[in-house]
Amino acid sequence: MSSIPPTHRALRQDVYALPPTVQQIPTPQATPGSAVLRVLQASVISYTKDIYNGVRKYPYPTPLTLGASALARVMALGPDATTLKVGNLCLLDVTIRGRDDVDRSAGATFLSAIVQGMTPASAKLMRDAWRDGTYAEYVRWPLENCFVLDEDRLFAKLGYQLGDLMYIPKMLVAYGGLGPLCIDLKPGETVVVTPATGGFGSAAAHLCLELGAGRVICMGRNQEILAQLKRAVAPEKRDRVECIPLTGDWEADLKALKSLGGLIDVFFDISPPAAADSRHLKAGIFALRNGGRMCLMGGGNHDLVLPNGVLMHKDITVKGKWMYEPTDVKRLIALVETGLVQLHREADDVNPLGARVVAKFKLEEWEEAFDTAEKQGRSGGIVVIEP
Ligand SMILES: NC(=O)c1ccc[n+]([C@@H]2O[C@H](COP(=O)([O-])OP(=O)(O)OC[C@H]3O[C@@H](n4cnc5c(N)ncnc54)[C@H](OP(=O)(O)O)[C@@H]3O)[C@@H](O)[C@H]2O)c1
Repeated sequence: MSSIPPTHRALRQDVYALPPTVQQIPTPQATPGSAVLRVLQASVISYTKDIYNGVRKYPYPTPLTLGASALARVMALGPDATTLKVGNLCLLDVTIRGRDDVDRSAGATFLSAIVQGMTPASAKLMRDAWRDGTYAEYVRWPLENCFVLDEDRLFAKLGYQLGDLMYIPKMLVAYGGLGPLCIDLKPGETVVVTPATGGFGSAAAHLCLELGAGRVICMGRNQEILAQLKRAVAPEKRDRVECIPLTGDWEADLKALKSLGGLIDVFFDISPPAAADSRHLKAGIFALRNGGRMCLMGGGNHDLVLPNGVLMHKDITVKGKWMYEPTDVKRLIALVETGLVQLHREADDVNPLGARVVAKFKLEEWEEAFDTAEKQGRSGGIVVIEP
């Protein structure tokens, strides 16, 4: 293993919302509670540009090394590391939690280099300890956020390439909501995904199939993307996918859902803030079976109007979820490593939306990376920065 250089290159933003620059900065040391890792690939999500140009108004401190979920190799470990080893390949989870906020009552949770969270405690934790992200050659990362990947199983036995593993963090967001710790989608159940056309939305649809959903009803405004999404599903699973338009007019959306027939067990929403005026969640409440469950992972900050009487008389459960739990990360990695959840979707020239790396960029090419992710980051296309 090569040694850690005293300085390294990182994509830094000095002033909020202004363009970042690649800078040579001191390489962090492995202090207690942390690991230093060499970043191999860091994901660029579809709305990265709108985070760092201020359009999304995500609060975060500057100066900041930008970043997102990443694959990285452990170079050095703090003295309290117990299971991690130098050389391990890790998935770096961006969901950082206060170690002295064990019951989460202070809400000391934020997303590294993305958003400082919702409380003074989360803002302090980001500002004072873990603000810098993964668009850098080296990162210092909390030990508990480094999840070891079994290279032998993933590469030698299952045949994945490094970039394929970047689909894990995409599915992980949906697993936080669909997994056993939240809405608990069960094999054989019918689930609706709205909208299923985005980066995280399409990963949610894929995950539902892999978790054994009997029917996955994909809703979205763009019928061409929905058709591509269906074609990207392996042939033997394709007849479990149904696609219908999402209009935002709740009566039209309800009619479309009812036209499919059968009972709906779970309604999973991961709408962007732009869908704030859409009323499709009301349609979802009406469409769910008695005792049905709705999971809200959409990113808007607006108020929701839901039909109280229907919620009450039908015993509907509505749960919100931000990201996922550490146990979810372990479980999803295990599901992938055992081959129970497959990362690949079919992709070819006709059908380019398989879940694969579609573009790689250097740190200096950040602008092109952000633009490409905005265009291609939807429906499974993975864009990465390789520092
Ligand atoms: N809860 C969490 O932990 C969590 C984690 C990650 C992300 N999120 C949220 O999830 C959102 C979606 O993520 P993503 O990766 O799928 O985003 P994305 O790649 O930007 O896709 C957004 C999707 O929403 C559709 N859309 C846009 N405006 C719409 C409208 N008015 N009505 C209905 N659909 C609309 C877009 O398709 P068309 O424009 O073609 O219709 C697109 O398919 C993010 O914006 C974020 O706020 C939440």
